[in-house]
Amino acid sequence: MYKLITFKQIGRIEIGFLSFFESNQNIPFEIKRIYYTYYVPVGTKRGGHAHRELNQLLWCPYGKINVILDDGKGKKEFLLDSPEKGLLVGKGIWHDMYWIKENSVLCVAASDYYNESDYIRDYNNFLKLVKEGYWKDENKL
Ligand code: TYD
Repeated sequence: MYKLITFKQIGRIEIGFLSFFESNQNIPFEIKRIYYTYYVPVGTKRGGHAHRELNQLLWCPYGKINVILDDGKGKKEFLLDSPEKGLLVGKGIWHDMYWIKENSVLCVAASDYYNESDYIRDYNNFLKLVKEGYWKDENKL
């Protein structure tokens, strides 16, 4: 599954804003790892993989990053261009990210520690697993 979430914005123009999210409250998993990607040249494509079990929340505190999600049946595009937007990317969703604006930062909260064997980096292998029903109804839109 995937889902765009809008976080609460607390504050006002004169003093700025604050947003937050909490494990098992407004995001449906326990956070075990945070990572972030930065100094990415505009026009760069990153991602190019899906995960067997990992669930993640992506957000862009500064900049503009276009995220293309693919569940093996269709694709959908999300522009992360505001700090109050979060994109939940569940297991079994192929994701590609395109850097649109200079100095954009992509932050990710993940449901587990880094484990390379959880990655599916071959698109045909991903499609094969979707066809076999590896994620069954977890992979629905
Ligand atoms: P990757 O997830 O492929 O990055 P992206 O999706 O942005 O292209 O990871 C890039 C490299 O960093 C890869 O060699 C794995 C390593 N890595 C870690 O060591 N720990 C981590 O938590 C993450 C996310 C990646």
